[in-house]
Amino acid sequence: MNNTYPLVLIVDDNPINIDLLLDILKGEYQFGVAKNGARAFEYLETHQPDIILLDVMMPEIDGFEVCAKLKSDGRYRDIEVIFITALSDARYIAKGFDVGAVDYITKPFKAAEVKARVQTHMSLKKMKEALNRQNLMLEEQVRNKTAQLHEMFTATVGGMALMAESRDPYTAGHQHRVAEYACIIGKGMGLPPDQIEAIKISGLLHDIGKIRTPVSLLNRPGKLLKAEWELIKTHPEIGFKILEQIPFPWPIAQIVYQHHERVDGSGYPRKLKGSGILLEAKIIAVADVMEAMSSHRPYRAALPVERALNTITSNRGILFDETVVDCFLSCSECIQKTTPPASSAGDKDHLPNNRD
Ligand SMILES: [Fe+2]
Ligand SMILES: [Fe+2]
Repeated sequence: MNNTYPLVLIVDDNPINIDLLLDILKGEYQFGVAKNGARAFEYLETHQPDIILLDVMMPEIDGFEVCAKLKSDGRYRDIEVIFITALSDARYIAKGFDVGAVDYITKPFKAAEVKARVQTHMSLKKMKEALNRQNLMLEEQVRNKTAQLHEMFTATVGGMALMAESRDPYTAGHQHRVAEYACIIGKGMGLPPDQIEAIKISGLLHDIGKIRTPVSLLNRPGKLLKAEWELIKTHPEIGFKILEQIPFPWPIAQIVYQHHERVDGSGYPRKLKGSGILLEAKIIAVADVMEAMSSHRPYRAALPVERALNTITSNRGILFDETVVDCFLSCSECIQKTTPPASSAGDKDHLPNNRD
């Protein structure tokens, strides 16, 4: 017997019926035989038939019950079941299909009919299996391509951040650290992974608009003139204009546009207030101030972490969103572990003069 032939399990308590079916189907299939439902399940422990020809009226477990049990078990669900029975009443036929059979042949049957139906269901099963294999392959390809695109996307965003920061070595890494702090706050607030991804991308790009700010303004020691400040304050809008061209699945351009807005309306550039500011922008705002104050700048030394914490705490509900500040404070230990150490005590510089 060719063991590549499909395997047919015949389940019937009548030896004459079994011999008849074996005779009709011989030459094209391999066979297994079980005289009742219990024996059929024993057989299935060691064999994987393609089709089961199942009698209905058998002692102990009837065919309907056997079929229902097969279809409720993940191991056997894909085995096609064809009832072969003397029960020809329409309600039995309907029940046969209800419990999951693909066909229902009534006795007395014609040999050609049994042969044709078994062949048809075998072909359908093969087609179904081929389709499943193809689907799995396509799903795998989509997964790989998606991962590849995500990798390219992350690298592109990282490259854009680097491009903006490369003009000014003193703020190198600023956007990466802001993204990191902001993600810690977002996760602490229990935000979903998709929103955390938006926060990460916005953090990495929040100061991209500084690409148009003269480097001399970004790191020149000493106070800036009012006009120079006004120039620095254009960076959220420039960032917005650069990023609005990119079809991100999140409002990245808007978040970047709003990262210097403050909840009391004292921020810039549009003096947005409270609920008019996106949550992601409120989170970036806190992370930005924390990172900027605790890092060294040419126009002032790094401030102690406590000073940054105090500034943020004392402006809870004034400049910064209350919930964001509360979560920031509960995560601040975690954030401090990633913060570069302060190199000296603070100078006269303070929050409104931050150029980040
Ligand atoms: Fe910044
Ligand atoms: Fe900024």
